[in-house]
Amino acid sequence: MKIKGRIFLLDDDELIVTMLSRALKNEGFETQVETNSDDIIEKMEAWHPDLMLLDINLGEDRNGLDILTEIMENELDTQVVMLTGDDTADSAIRAMKIGAADYLTKPFNVDEVIMVIKGVLEKSKLQDEIRYLRKSRMDYAHHEMVGESQVVKDLIENAKKVATAGVPTILITGESGTGKEVLSRYMHNWLHQERGNNTEDVPYIAVNCTALPDNLIESELFGHTKWAFTDAKMDKKGMFELADGGTILLDEIGDMRADLQSKFLRVLENRKVRRLGGKVDLSVDVTVIATTNRDLKQAVADKDFREDLFFRLSTFSMHLPPLRDRREDISLLAQYFFQHFSQQYTKKDVKGLTAEAEKRFIEYNWPGNVRELKNVIERCVVLANTELIGIEHLPLEISEERDLPFVERRKNPRLILPEKGISLDEVEKDLIRQALNRADNNQTKAAKLLNMSYDTLRYQIKKYNLK
Ligand SMILES: Nc1ncnc2c1ncn2[C@@H]1O[C@H](COP(=O)(O)OP(=O)(O)OP(=O)(O)O)[C@@H](O)[C@H]1O
Ligand SMILES: [Mg+2]
Repeated sequence: MKIKGRIFLLDDDELIVTMLSRALKNEGFETQVETNSDDIIEKMEAWHPDLMLLDINLGEDRNGLDILTEIMENELDTQVVMLTGDDTADSAIRAMKIGAADYLTKPFNVDEVIMVIKGVLEKSKLQDEIRYLRKSRMDYAHHEMVGESQVVKDLIENAKKVATAGVPTILITGESGTGKEVLSRYMHNWLHQERGNNTEDVPYIAVNCTALPDNLIESELFGHTKWAFTDAKMDKKGMFELADGGTILLDEIGDMRADLQSKFLRVLENRKVRRLGGKVDLSVDVTVIATTNRDLKQAVADKDFREDLFFRLSTFSMHLPPLRDRREDISLLAQYFFQHFSQQYTKKDVKGLTAEAEKRFIEYNWPGNVRELKNVIERCVVLANTELIGIEHLPLEISEERDLPFVERRKNPRLILPEKGISLDEVEKDLIRQALNRADNNQTKAAKLLNMSYDTLRYQIKKYNLK
């Protein structure tokens, strides 16, 4: 794991702090040095150090333990390593009880100091990430990018090249459910495997730009200082800081609020973030991967998306085509998901599709793309009581070869009334079912897809007995 960070040194011995500061800078750390404790809390609050080396005997009225107590009371988000001069273990034990992360006994050598610092930072970084991951839902099961079509093969080749080159900003476009998140995770893993890192240890933080409430998104992304707003009772790192050394995935960037777009652009350009209420810019070393299912060019034309941000993002962009444009992948994906779900639900006897059902799978248009395919197979596996899934087991929209009222045209799809007429209710019911399916049964999202209110959708679901 790549460990860098901001180290604050407080020791009245000028020689020691100068020597340590130089050694730490050589290791890639940033440092700030103080030889007395005047305004120490204010200074720390202004610089948000990750770690502090704090001498116990400062030659002042207050000693290091008093300062440590003050740091703990102020809930600063800084790890403290005590420098103890005497060889009695007593003060070290007291420091640990108050909340120090570790201690070093003078005289120490530089290697020892660096080792302790790295250990403490690594631990706190992991704790940060665990704290974040506990909150976020992530699909760990699928990091594999399955596909045998030429486009997917080319895409994987490209993704590897872009990742290996260390391109810092990448855009992934494609309809919903085409695998943008899968590709993003794949690139992250590839890059860090190449660099010989243990990918489990490198942060990968996914943020959905639309899932966070407006009043929180900014502090979630950039962090905040204590009392930056009423509820901010302590310093907090933002996701960019948490992703330092790894990757941040910004999902649905196309829906990002305008004021955040400009802040985000600044981060991309300077690779620095400033916490809400903060006074300094903090450097971050992150690969930024943004995804969108919107046509960003169109959004720019509609003045919905900043043009400069669009250019910045689209230098390295990758497009995942819809599944209906790479039907060669359907069989392989189906096989893959059958295997996965028959294992997950311990129904090893469910093998796959009959030839006839597979044909329908290949012909079907998969408006919800790979996600829809995956969901359909999951349902088949759970409900199956035969080895092979036949047409009769498939959901209606796939199994029924009926006169669909749709004619697909690239630019303006249009509904056409079939010769023999159609039941409007059936069309409505069918579209609602598809929307629910595509939205993973999330009714808010499904309602959005149908441009109807949540309440109307609830009513329709009841009316058609869809659940
Ligand atoms: N090539 C693939 N191989 C294996 N699984 C895939 C592939 N593509 C997509 N999936 C699976 O399909 C589902 C949807 O993929 P993903 O979440 O990456 O889509 P997305 O493009 O990010 O969609 P959205 O725009 O709705 O967020 C996931 O469960 C993922 O595991
Ligand atoms: Mg996604």
